[in-house]
Amino acid sequence: MNKKSICVFQNLKDNGEKIAMLTAYDYSTAKALDEADIDGILVGDSLAMVALGYENTYNITIDEMLIFIKAVARGAKNSFIIGDMPFMSYNLSVEQGLKNASEMIKAGASAVKIEGCNDHIINLTKRCVESGIPVLAHLGLTPQLLNTIGGHKIQGKTADATEEILENAKKLEKAGAFAVVLELMPAVSAEYITRNLTIPTIGIGAGVGCSGQIVVTDDILGKFTDFVPKFVKKYVNLHDIVLQSVVDYKNEVKAKLFPSEKETFELSETEREKLNVIK
Ligand code: KIV
Repeated sequence: MNKKSICVFQNLKDNGEKIAMLTAYDYSTAKALDEADIDGILVGDSLAMVALGYENTYNITIDEMLIFIKAVARGAKNSFIIGDMPFMSYNLSVEQGLKNASEMIKAGASAVKIEGCNDHIINLTKRCVESGIPVLAHLGLTPQLLNTIGGHKIQGKTADATEEILENAKKLEKAGAFAVVLELMPAVSAEYITRNLTIPTIGIGAGVGCSGQIVVTDDILGKFTDFVPKFVKKYVNLHDIVLQSVVDYKNEVKAKLFPSEKETFELSETEREKLNVIK
C-alpha cells in the first residue's frame, strides 16, 4: 500500500464518497487505524484530556504534541497524518506558527490543523501552504476558544451564524486550506456550508451532510468515560472489557492461577539437580 497524500480528500469528495477520519495518539492505535485504511489520522489536542487527563486542551504544549505525532507516525506508515496545533502555538505571530507547524511536519505529520478564522489565521494558513505545509481548518465549536465562547455551545444555530461560518470557511479555502472541520452545529447548517464550498468538510457533531466525519477514537471504543458527547456512537465498551480483564488478572494472581505452566519457563533436569531442586 502506498502512503496516502493530501489528494485523497478532494478526490473522495469529488467522487461523492465520504471521508472517514479518526484520532490517534499512540503507536498501537495508529497501527490499527493504518491497517483499517482510514482516510486520515488526526493527532488531536484532545489527547490533553483523553491521554493526559487534563480538563481541557489549554495545557498541552507543542513539545508534548510532537512526542505523540512521532509515535503515531511510527505506527501508521501509510496514513495521512495531521498534527493539531495546540493552544497558543500559532497565535503570537506568523513566524511562531510557521516554526511550530514545521516541527510537526519534521515529527512525521503530513499536515497541520489550525482552529478558528481571523486575519492572522488566514495569513498563517496562506504562509503554511506556500511553505509546503497543508492546512486543515477548524470552524464551528473551536475548543481552544472555549473560554471566550462560554462552553460547549452548539454553533451555527441561526441562518446568520451559518452564513458567518460559511464566509470564514470560504476565506480559509481561498487561503489554501485543503479541508475544514465543522464541529458541533445543526446538520442543516453544516450541509449548507458543505454545498457552498469546493474543499471537503469534515464533521464532528455536524450531521451526515458533511463530506466526511471525524471522531475521537477513544470515544467510539468506549475507552474514555469522563464525558460522552451526544454525537458519539460507541462501537464497543473497552472500558468495561479492560476493567473486567484487570479484575480477572488480579484474582488469578491472588489465587496462584497465574502464571500457569503455559506461561512458565522450565529449567532442565541437569541444572535442576545442580541446584538440588526436585520437581
Ligand atoms: O482534538 C481533536 O481531537 C479534534 C477533533 C476535531 C476530533 O480537534
